[in-house]
Order: sequence, then structure tokens, then C-alpha cells
Amino acid sequence: MRYAAITGLGMAVPERILTNADLERMVDTSDEWIVSRTGIRERRVVGPNDSTTSLSVAAGRQALEQAGLTADDIDLIIVATCTPDQFVVSEACLVQAELGGAAAAFDIGAACSGFVYALSVATSFIQQGMHNRVLVIGADTFTRFIDYTDRSTCILFGDGAGAVVLEPTDEPRGLLNTVLGANGTGNKHLYAPGWGAVVPESAELFPEYRPYLQMNGQEVFRFAVRVMGDAAAEAVERSGLTFADVDMLVPHQANARIIDAAARRLDLPREKVWVNVDRYGNTSAASVPIALAEAAAAGHLDEGDNVVLVAFGAGLTWAAGMVRWGVAGVRRLSPHRADAATNDLVVAVGEPVHG
Ligand SMILES: CC(C)(COP(=O)(O)OP(=O)(O)OC[C@H]1O[C@@H](n2cnc3c(N)ncnc32)[C@H](O)[C@@H]1OP(=O)(O)O)[C@@H](O)C(=O)NCCC(=O)NCCS
Repeated sequence: MRYAAITGLGMAVPERILTNADLERMVDTSDEWIVSRTGIRERRVVGPNDSTTSLSVAAGRQALEQAGLTADDIDLIIVATCTPDQFVVSEACLVQAELGGAAAAFDIGAACSGFVYALSVATSFIQQGMHNRVLVIGADTFTRFIDYTDRSTCILFGDGAGAVVLEPTDEPRGLLNTVLGANGTGNKHLYAPGWGAVVPESAELFPEYRPYLQMNGQEVFRFAVRVMGDAAAEAVERSGLTFADVDMLVPHQANARIIDAAARRLDLPREKVWVNVDRYGNTSAASVPIALAEAAAAGHLDEGDNVVLVAFGAGLTWAAGMVRWGVAGVRRLSPHRADAATNDLVVAVGEPVHG
């Protein structure tokens, strides 16, 4: 049996910080309201020189470096995003152009669930022997599509990218199972009109047309609390494990109250749940890989640990999976590789990305 171990991680966030105090000056809100309803204190926002590509490339380079690989060693790049820099070509091709190499490249769009969807596709390709070394990136720059006069959405989102390198191993490492789901009839609860091929001919004909992200917060909240708990629990059960076997929950970082509900469902104490929503807000497809990279860099993940990933997002979509942490059985490509493939994962947390 072939598995796909995570051998390198990386993350990148923009340098610009937007605090709750900044938002208090922009809309009718308060730090107290935002923190008590969401847990968010600040988020990172792209500047004129940042882009989904620049963040993805920075995170991807880090992940490759940790794995002791170069872009030439990678044979597939998947980018999970719904805010690509261009619709034609794919974000993954823009990233490949910057990183170098000749990997196959494509995007996956499942909004905030996108990274876990992409991880599951990449793992399956490696398991089937179709690809060997895959770079999976989750990246979004949603702040470009936020109406900063709408207090119900502008407080929530930040920008960023996270990346992992997957390599084959005979040991049970990496993603062991996935729970993927979607309910397309919920599309109207969280969506952005007018970014695609179907664009209203004029705002006059479609008075309701607005180009920014639209959200029914309460509906999304109810959905999220239900699916985050259910999907995470299903991933644990499908692994033949119990909640007591879970060493770390790495959830999508949308709202601290939603994360708490998922943790309660798995009966997990606070120290087994990675939370950084206070510092980055909701970075969409980047949130799970950023959280994973931080948890690893902080030394909270050990060889053989059981790590549950869970996410939800627009679509409506959801995704969860059980990851067995570590690099056991991964064949070293080079002496450099042998040095790098340890649990000593150094991630430049909070390191600014320029241009
Ligand atoms: C958006 C969210 C934080 C709102 O919290 P909530 O407790 O549901 O708040 P409500 O929408 O019921 O609004 C309560 C009141 O606060 C107000 N309010 C909304 N945003 C506010 C803000 N930023 N500051 C102050 N007041 C605000 C509302 O207008 C409402 O006022 P009213 O009672 O006078 O009408 C919450 O619904 C949520 O997190 N939903 C999920 C969103 C999400 O995760 N999206 C991304 C998915 S990937």
C-alpha cells in the first residue's frame, strides 16, 4: 500500500495588518463585538505588490525547502483557491512559472474547504502511482473582494497561503481518509456574483447586482457548526480510532465559536485544537495549511500523531480527513533531503512577504 506523507510545510501572509481598531474607524463596529462574536483580533491584507501568486510562491518555496526538494523534483502542483490572480490561466500555472520545473498544474475550487479537497486529490494520485511528489497549496486573497462598508463581512477575512509537499511512503503516513461533501442548494448563503463568465450586462438590468462577497452569516454559522463536528467525527470513526486517539485538531479558522463547537463534538481539550483565527481571520483555502504549518513549527506534531483536518466553505462545501503525521518510510532523494526530512519543521511564521 502506498501512502502520501507530508514532508514539507510553508506559509506566507502579507505584511499589512488590519486590526479591529482600524475597522472601528471604517464601519460601525467595535473590538468587543468582533472578538466576542468571532475571536478575531487582526487579519493580514494584501498590498499593491502582493498577490495570490506571490503568497503561494513564498509558501511553496518554504515547503520545498523543508522537504529538501527543488521545483524540478515536483511532478504536480495543485492550488486550491477561489481568488486566482487570473481566470485564464490557472493559479497553479502562474505558481509553476515562478517556482520553475515542469510539473503538471491545475486549480481546485471548493472555497474554504479547497485545501482539504486538494490534499485528498493529491494523495489519491500518489496512492495510485500517477504522481510521485506533489506540491499542494491553499491560497486566497479575499480582501480584494470584500466590501469595506459592509460590517458583517469585512471583519472576517484576511489573506494568506499555506503549502505542503507530499511524497510516497509504504508506511501509513499522510492523509489516511477523507470525508468530502457539498450542498449546492446552499450556494446563495455565501457567494460572490459577477466574477465569472455569467456577468450581468448592466447593473440597470440587474439592480441587485453587487460585485462583492455576499453572506447570510447566521445560516452559514448554523451549517458550519453542524458539518464541522459531523465531518471531523466521521473522519475519526472511518480511521477505526476514537476521539481519545486524536492528538491535534486543525480546523478551518473562520470563527472561534465554530471551532469550539467542533472541539466539543470530539470532546477535545483546548490544547489539542490549533487556533490562530485571532491573528489571521478567515484566510479561506489558506487557513488549514497555515494552521498546520504553525502547529508543526511550534513542535506540537510528532511522528505518528493523529491529526484531524476539517473545513467548511462556500458551495456550500465541507471536508475532513485524518492525517497520520510524520515521514516514516519516505525515500531520501539526496543527502540534503536526509537532513531536511525530520520533524524539525522551521516555518517563517508571520514573516512578511514583499512583492
Ligand atoms: C457573521 C457572524 C460573526 C455574525 O454573528 P451573529 O452572532 O450571527 O450576529 P447576527 O448576524 O445575528 O447580528 C447580530 C447583530 O449584530 C449586528 N452586526 C453585524 N455585524 C456587526 C459588526 N461587525 N459589528 C457590530 N455589529 C454587527 C447585526 O446588524 C445585528 O444587529 P441587529 O440585531 O440590530 O439586527 C456569524 O454569523 C458568523 O460567524 N457566521 C459564519 C460566517 C462565516 O464563517 N463565513 C465564512 C465561511 S467560510
